[in-house]
Amino acid sequence: MRGSGSYLYDAAGNRYLDGSGGPAVFSLGHGHPEVNAAIARQLEDVAFGYRYTFTSSALEQLTDTLRRLCGGQFNDVLFCAGGSEAVESALKVTLQHYAARGLMKKRRFVSRRRSWHGNTLGALSVSDFTERRRDFEGSLLDVAFVAAANAYRPPADVPPGELTAHLAAELETTIQTLGPDNVAAFIFEPIVGAAGGVVPAPQGYAQAVREVCSKYDVLMIADEVMCGSGRSGTWRTLEFDSVVPDVMCIAKGLAGGYVPLGATLVSSRVAEPIHAAHGGYQTGHTFSGHTTACAAGVAVQHIIERDALMTRVRKSGALFQTALRERLAQFDEVGDVRGRGYFIGVELVRDRRTKAPFPRTRGLSYDIGRRSFADGLICYPCAGNVDGINGDSIILAPPYNALDIELEEIMTKLTAAIGAALTASD
Ligand SMILES: Cc1ncc(COP(=O)(O)O)c(C=O)c1O
Repeated sequence: MRGSGSYLYDAAGNRYLDGSGGPAVFSLGHGHPEVNAAIARQLEDVAFGYRYTFTSSALEQLTDTLRRLCGGQFNDVLFCAGGSEAVESALKVTLQHYAARGLMKKRRFVSRRRSWHGNTLGALSVSDFTERRRDFEGSLLDVAFVAAANAYRPPADVPPGELTAHLAAELETTIQTLGPDNVAAFIFEPIVGAAGGVVPAPQGYAQAVREVCSKYDVLMIADEVMCGSGRSGTWRTLEFDSVVPDVMCIAKGLAGGYVPLGATLVSSRVAEPIHAAHGGYQTGHTFSGHTTACAAGVAVQHIIERDALMTRVRKSGALFQTALRERLAQFDEVGDVRGRGYFIGVELVRDRRTKAPFPRTRGLSYDIGRRSFADGLICYPCAGNVDGINGDSIILAPPYNALDIELEEIMTKLTAAIGAALTASD
């Protein structure tokens, strides 16, 4: 019925603390008066200037803001209505880039196991999410998958110190096997979201795969739809690794969930051949660059900068994660607490030593989600992170402006829900 700050209220008057910002969307919580006012102002002027006829101040302002927030690394910003569209555009921009250079054989994509890039057929094709792909197998693109970059669950017999080199070598071998002349792009989530339960890559991974991609003229697409737009404590997630992808997808937190908005950011190196050969992009939708959505995006990004919320997310996120790890250490079944900034995952295991998951039939993560909801906390339960079927994790992604007392409430209620669910399963 209503949202205010970090809380939502239902028709019965129950109050819920939004500990996951919905699906990692609500970067400024709910009902922010300044965002609402900016949207209302835009609606009063004009709701939407269709891009074939007009540009708009909101669109131009947001484009400039994103270019600046990304340190000038991206030239073109293609707006859309969400994450799947942003990924779809990234795949198409990649193909158009090679078409513009006359390299029509470069059509294949490489992605990673345990990844999620969206629900449209192209984005679903590069996703490894068993349950969500199952009914569409046979109609998906032929995509090559390499191992997930997961330090908690590395490939068998790979020691921790060799994981990054192993994963980079696997990517290189895959490109060589497909033939570098056939490979267009490697797409990955810098911090895996729903398919892995918040999995940051091992140290040095982003630099290592960047080098492999550059070596074979394969574009690097960073899908920052869930982890980006400040959620992990730097505005671009890969800023943390000092790595710049060729194409980057953002959505979710970009306009804070107030109006649907996503974007595909394209580097000059990728954009130039397209402009030279084709004069522009062969992608876009009716609502691309929707004026009111852009106005919401401008307001959200302005508040994040003005209130220094990136610094808050970085500092307080580290403390929150440490405190949560300590709080959950009482449960043998909590195998891992990980993440960066306000993007944190808790993985549950049947056996902490072997990391064996609970069987899917137990439905542990959903059980925890239900119990915390009943107690007034929204978290984001995920299943299948181990092998596509089994595996339980919980994602926390509070609003960047959540108060300390609210972070404390998240920890207390999640701890209680995990405890109750585990007791029930004994
Ligand atoms: C990393 C990632 N990419 C793409 C998507 C698809 O975004 P949307 O649901 O807005 O289409 C998601 C959604 O969860 C995501 O987490």
